[in-house]
Amino acid sequence: MRTLYTASQIASRVAELAARIEADHNGKPLLVLGVLKGSLIFLADLVRQLRLPLRYELIALSSYRKKTDPGELLVYGELPEPEPDEEVLIVEDIVDTGGTMARLTELLERHYGQSAKICALLDKRTRRNHHTVVDYAGFRLDSDDFVVGYGLDYDGHYRNLPYISVLEEEEL
Ligand code: PRP
Repeated sequence: MRTLYTASQIASRVAELAARIEADHNGKPLLVLGVLKGSLIFLADLVRQLRLPLRYELIALSSYRKKTDPGELLVYGELPEPEPDEEVLIVEDIVDTGGTMARLTELLERHYGQSAKICALLDKRTRRNHHTVVDYAGFRLDSDDFVVGYGLDYDGHYRNLPYISVLEEEEL
């Protein structure tokens, strides 16, 4: 396992993202929609840096039930509904194929006529096969490395690491 981003690099980047989000929203209310389970740690750090009126809600979506290949997307629980004056910011740990975000933004549009912006700590472009625009990206990944830590897992493990690491071939 090799470290890709240290805890302090992540903290600096989260602060930069929060500053950009604040500047773009200009005091307008926000519904922050965290996608479980991967975004939990990023969400907790990000919202504590945002000086905006906000609510956060959590939605559990899962497609990588085992290992590394996406399967059918499962949605657990109700889709949180924005108040009329709220803008929606979806928070993800990683956007990979883009399938999860394409499905969630389509659900928000269909149920509530609501568009959403996307904030992802990692924007991994190598396997993207859906048209998904990441409005606020922490770090861009241009390799096909499998990353874990800071909420990201491999088969349920490593989410608690305070940094982001690459798993080597023999560890997969
Ligand atoms: C991961 C990640 C994103 C999704 C991104 O979730 O948290 O939600 O995959 O992949 P995509 O862009 O190819 O759709 P996962 O299904 O592993 O669930 P988890 O958050 O519970 O780990």
